[in-house]
Amino acid sequence: MSGKSENKKTDICKAPIGVFDSGVGGLTVMREIMRQLPNEKAVYFGDTARVPYGSKSKETVLRYSRQIIRFLRTRGVKAIVVACNTASAYALETIQEEIDLPIIGVVKPGAQVAAETTRSGRIGVIGTEGTISSRIYPEYIARWNPEAAVFGKACPLFVPLVEEGLLKDPVTEEIASRYLREFEGSGIDTLILGCTHYPLLRSTIGKVMGETVALVNPAYETARSLKELLREQKLENPGGMEEQAGQYEFYVSDSVQRFQRFASMILSFETTHAEQIQIEEY
Ligand code: DGL
Repeated sequence: MSGKSENKKTDICKAPIGVFDSGVGGLTVMREIMRQLPNEKAVYFGDTARVPYGSKSKETVLRYSRQIIRFLRTRGVKAIVVACNTASAYALETIQEEIDLPIIGVVKPGAQVAAETTRSGRIGVIGTEGTISSRIYPEYIARWNPEAAVFGKACPLFVPLVEEGLLKDPVTEEIASRYLREFEGSGIDTLILGCTHYPLLRSTIGKVMGETVALVNPAYETARSLKELLREQKLENPGGMEEQAGQYEFYVSDSVQRFQRFASMILSFETTHAEQIQIEEY
């Protein structure tokens, strides 16, 4: 490699990762990226003005995702993580064909781990209406475990409950019991938390499902896949960790204050560098 192209490669490696979600839930993925890839910079976009994606059509989610990717490109990102399950289900495959950047979603990593760890061959998936009706999880699971039986259940009330901060509330437990009753008698031994918000309900869901059911957190698996992807493509940032607050940028399409309130529940530092942008302009 010539000196010039070597410098160019180092510059790319120092560029941030772009992470996006329909709103605040993707911060569960961001948190895992921060933990598992502490050398990497990241730009997070949460579409807080247009959330939820879970009840919107495929065309709409695809249009929103394209706009967000155009925005993230203006921030010079070297790779993109679609942190939203619904956008991963509806938009990722199309977008992968359209752009020349490495891009991953949250569905494939979660599906792979579930397919490989189940012993009974019976897997449950919970997510938004969009994610469950897309049947994306069963499709991916079949790639690694064609014999597996997959049972899906949309749990639309979980997102607002999490956003209200009712993580361990009796109301949440009651709703979780009603939704998860659907899996009674199914014989599942693995349950995928197939929505950005659900890892925050892990203890409530775990209590209802019991110890015999393993809970798969796609956020964790996605950060692992991202690490692997950067290594394969020689895109890892070689630099040491800079000051944490400056290393991460946050953008939202609605009020910054509301975003920061929620972010403080998930992240261990203040999201001081947060800005509202007009996403429709991209
Ligand atoms: N981020 C979404 C997901 O993971 C949940 C919230 C929404 O419906 O937009 O599917």
